[in-house]
Amino acid sequence: MDDNNCGCWAVLKRGVCKSSASRDSANTIPPTETRYLNASNRELYPPNEAHLSSDNPDPPPSDNKSPCQLLQFTFQELKSATGNFRPDSILGEGGFGYVFKGWIEENGTAPAKPGSGITVAVKSLKPDGLQGHREWVAEVDFLGQLHHPNLVKLIGYCIEDDQRLLVYEFMTRGSLENHLFRRTIPLPWSNRIKIALGAAKGLAFLHGGPEPVIYRDFKTSNILLDSEYNSKLSDFGLAKAGPQGDKTHVSTRVVGTYGYAAPEYVMTGHLTSKSDVYSFGVVLLEILTGRRSMDKKRPSGEQNLVTWARPYLADKRKLYQLVDPRLELNYSLKGVQKVSQLAHNCLHRDPKSRPTMDEVVKVLTPLQDLNDLAILSYHSRLSQQGRRKKKPEGSQQLSNTQSKSIRGSPLNTGKQRCR
Ligand SMILES: Nc1ncnc2c1ncn2[C@@H]1O[C@H](COP(=O)(O)OP(=O)(O)OP(=O)(O)O)[C@@H](O)[C@H]1O
Ligand SMILES: [Mg+2]
Repeated sequence: MDDNNCGCWAVLKRGVCKSSASRDSANTIPPTETRYLNASNRELYPPNEAHLSSDNPDPPPSDNKSPCQLLQFTFQELKSATGNFRPDSILGEGGFGYVFKGWIEENGTAPAKPGSGITVAVKSLKPDGLQGHREWVAEVDFLGQLHHPNLVKLIGYCIEDDQRLLVYEFMTRGSLENHLFRRTIPLPWSNRIKIALGAAKGLAFLHGGPEPVIYRDFKTSNILLDSEYNSKLSDFGLAKAGPQGDKTHVSTRVVGTYGYAAPEYVMTGHLTSKSDVYSFGVVLLEILTGRRSMDKKRPSGEQNLVTWARPYLADKRKLYQLVDPRLELNYSLKGVQKVSQLAHNCLHRDPKSRPTMDEVVKVLTPLQDLNDLAILSYHSRLSQQGRRKKKPEGSQQLSNTQSKSIRGSPLNTGKQRCR
C-alpha cells in the first residue's frame, strides 16, 4: 500500500484541538499578534521589508471542532516531566526555544519517572514575549490534524499565561542535521537513501491532500529520525495552506531558512509546493555531499552548496566528486547517479520543471535496493587489472564503458583510494 494513504487528512478547519484533560485556566489563545515570526532566525526579510503581508492573517480559532486528540498539559506537569527543565535533559535548541527530554504516564498528562511511561520531547517557547506565538499556533493547528508515518507526532501542548510549550513523540536518533554534520561516524549510504525517501513521502503527503499544505521549512534539522532511521518531518510553524481553486500560488511574506528557500519564492513571495521541492533538492545535495547548504567556513565559491554543486550536477563525468568523502567508496554507483540527477531536477530554476514530490518518491524508492557499491567495483577492477597484467600486450586496454566509469569516479582523483 502506498504510504501516502496511511496518513490521516483531517480537514484543516484551522481549529486548535480539544484537550483531553480540560483545564479551566488559560485555555484560550490570546488575540492575534501583528508581529510575524521573528522568534527564530528564519525570517528572510525584516518585517518592514516584507514583500507581502497576507501570511496567515488570522490565528486559528479555538473552536475545538477538529477531530484530533491532543492532550493539554499544565506547565507544572511539563516542568515535572522534564525534571524542572534540567539543562542535562536539553535535546537541542532552535529558533523557537529549547527542546527537553521528558517522561509522561501512558494514559494522560501526568508526569512519569525518568525512564518510565512514554518518552517525550518538550519544546518550550523562548520567554521573550509573544513573538513565537503564531508559530506555536500553526504547529498545533497543522500537526494536530495531519497524521502520517513520516510526520512527527504532536502529543499535546501547554498554553498557560505566557508559557507556550509543545509535546512531541521522542525521536531517538535526533535530527538528520546531527547525523550528517555533527557526528564523527558517517551516516551509511543506505540510511541516507532511507531518510531521503521517508522525508520525500512526508512532503508528498502534505502536497497531495485535499487541502495541500506547503511546508516551507524543509531542512536537515527538521527531519527527525527514529531508532530505525525512519524520518519524520517536524516544525510546522511556517507551514502554509497551499493555493486553492485555480490559484497557482499563495502570496506570502518570505520566511524560511537561508540556503534552502527557492530563489523565485525569495524574489517574489509567490509560494507553491515547488518551493518545497527546491528545498528538498538542497537537502538531497547535503545528504549526497555531507556539506551544509550554507557554510561560511568554506572558501568563497564553496559556501553556497547549490552554487558550488551545479557544475558537477550538470556533468556526468564529475558526479562522483560530489559524494561525501567520508563515505569513501561505500556508496552505490547508480544511486549516486540517480540522486544527483534528482537533485539537479529539484533545483531547476524554473519551478514548473521541478518534479512533484510523488515523482521524487518514485525515483527514490528503487534506490534502496541497489547493491552496486563503488568499493565492490573498485575491487573487481583491481582483480581484473591483476589478471590482465598476465595477458599479452594490448589486451589490457579498458573497454569504453570501463574507462568512462573510472574517469567519472573518485577512483580517478587519487584521494580516496582504498588500499
Ligand atoms: N521530537 C523530538 N525528538 C528528539 N529530538 C528532538 C525532537 N524535536 C526536536 N529535537 C531536537 O531538538 C533540536 C532543536 O529543534 P528545533 O526544531 O527547536 O530547532 P531547529 O530545527 O534546530 O531550528 P529551527 O528553529 O530553525 O527549526 C533538533 O535539532 C533535535 O535535535
Ligand atoms: Mg526544527
